[in-house]
Amino acid sequence: MKFFVDTADTAEIRELEDAGLLDGVTTNPSLIAKSGRDFKEVIAEICGITKGDVSAEVAATDFDGMMKEAAELAKIADNVVIKLPLTLEGLKACKALTDKGHKTNVTLCFSANQALLAAKAGATYISPFIGRLDDMNIDGLELIREIRVIYDNYGFGTEILAASIRTANHVSECALIGADVVTVPPATLKGLVKHPLTDKGLAAFLADWEKTGQKIV
Ligand code: E4P
Repeated sequence: MKFFVDTADTAEIRELEDAGLLDGVTTNPSLIAKSGRDFKEVIAEICGITKGDVSAEVAATDFDGMMKEAAELAKIADNVVIKLPLTLEGLKACKALTDKGHKTNVTLCFSANQALLAAKAGATYISPFIGRLDDMNIDGLELIREIRVIYDNYGFGTEILAASIRTANHVSECALIGADVVTVPPATLKGLVKHPLTDKGLAAFLADWEKTGQKIV
């Protein structure tokens, strides 16, 4: 399973890239707004940090507008993935961009049928939002399970990019289900390494090592 980080914070992206934990990055208009920076400048900087896929989302909602914005975003770097909303116009743009050889990420997926349509449109990635379904008391992980079955039934190559991840449990469950990618906020991603027994065990080992009076180097 690939790990993407869901942020436009380039310092966080650099830290995770340096730790060897990163396979790619996803952004969205809300994350860009939060960064307070110029959209194309941030995407260019992120693409300079990682060689992995970097999703940049269009802001237009009509086919022609999406195609124009996609052409502009694709110029930034080879690893830019065009992120499109799961609407009829978005799917039409997905098909056209796929035919032109661009990678696409169809976002805001909340149903198995939507994921089926995105796969038929040739999407590189489908982004089902787990946390936002959980917020409505609907099991977001169940949607990932359904999409896995459907894609496997028909051999669709579209990768399931589990998004709106809120907890460490979401990550491990996605891995068990067989999601291809998870995109995780930086704090949640870094939190995956933590276990109290690791900290306790390390403290005990270090205390015992101190008693030996030895040095390795
Ligand atoms: C995915 O690509 C989205 O950027 C993201 O995962 C949305 O997460 P949120 O529901 O926490 O905003």
